[in-house]
Amino acid sequence: MILEVENLSVRYGSLTALRGVSLGVDEGQIVCVLGPNGAGKSTTLAAIAGGVAIHTGIIRWCNQPISGLMPEAISRLGLSLVPEGRHVFSTLTVEENLLVGTYQRRDRQEVAKDMKRALEIFPRLRERIHQPAGRLSGGEQQMLVICRALLTNARMLMMDEPSLGLAPIIVDQVYEMLLNLRQRNGLTLLINEQSSERILKFADHVYVLRSGELQLSDAAANLQDGKAIMNAYFGFDARPAELAAAGNGGGR
Ligand SMILES: Nc1ncnc2c1ncn2[C@@H]1O[C@H](COP(=O)(O)OP(=O)(O)OP(=O)(O)O)[C@@H](O)[C@H]1O
Ligand SMILES: [Mg+2]
Repeated sequence: MILEVENLSVRYGSLTALRGVSLGVDEGQIVCVLGPNGAGKSTTLAAIAGGVAIHTGIIRWCNQPISGLMPEAISRLGLSLVPEGRHVFSTLTVEENLLVGTYQRRDRQEVAKDMKRALEIFPRLRERIHQPAGRLSGGEQQMLVICRALLTNARMLMMDEPSLGLAPIIVDQVYEMLLNLRQRNGLTLLINEQSSERILKFADHVYVLRSGELQLSDAAANLQDGKAIMNAYFGFDARPAELAAAGNGGGR
């Protein structure tokens, strides 16, 4: 396993956002964390990236404990977080935004090569390389933050709801690119999403979080009918009537 999270708990003041969450990611896998609003998905990624203090638990990256390290140190180890929302520097150009992703790197010649390769994967960014990032469309900004994260030399990308606020066709393009990156670079992906629809097509493993606790962990291949995910997501028993209600958009 390239990433192991054991018994992770996070508190914000008196609120327990995560309670005893354990999960693992193998190298080259696409792993998805699903769950409704407030389930603790963003907190999970933030805790792994060193952005929030953890209350209990241990996080290992390549068999080394990383819990307690500063976010910059974790990022230097090859673990990169793309946070929720598209955080581009809107007055900087596309190129300048990409260079921000490389400031920690010393291997400047490799950076230049990686930049060239990245722009081959994202030709729309290459065409707009000297434009201010604030003028890009939502989908293009999403590509920019993914590209910037890749240029940190990431072995694993953690993406917080990459499809949020994007048109379905753009989401498909973003996911196609992620698949492509896994194939070409052996990239490992840990992705938060609210909906299982798209993710079930290409995730290897799925976790469902609800109210800060892990409800389900299984290979995506075993979850294709969506029933177990629905149960875990809404907290229903596996009774057909309730499942039918959930399928109609019901919930709590
Ligand atoms: N900085 C914070 N301070 C206090 N409470 C927080 C903070 N961040 C998150 N929380 C709370 O922790 C819980 C988990 O939040 P989190 O953002 O991890 O959920 P999420 O699964 O990412 O939800 P969403 O799908 O809405 O993004 C929520 O109840 C939220 O209100
Ligand atoms: Mg979130």
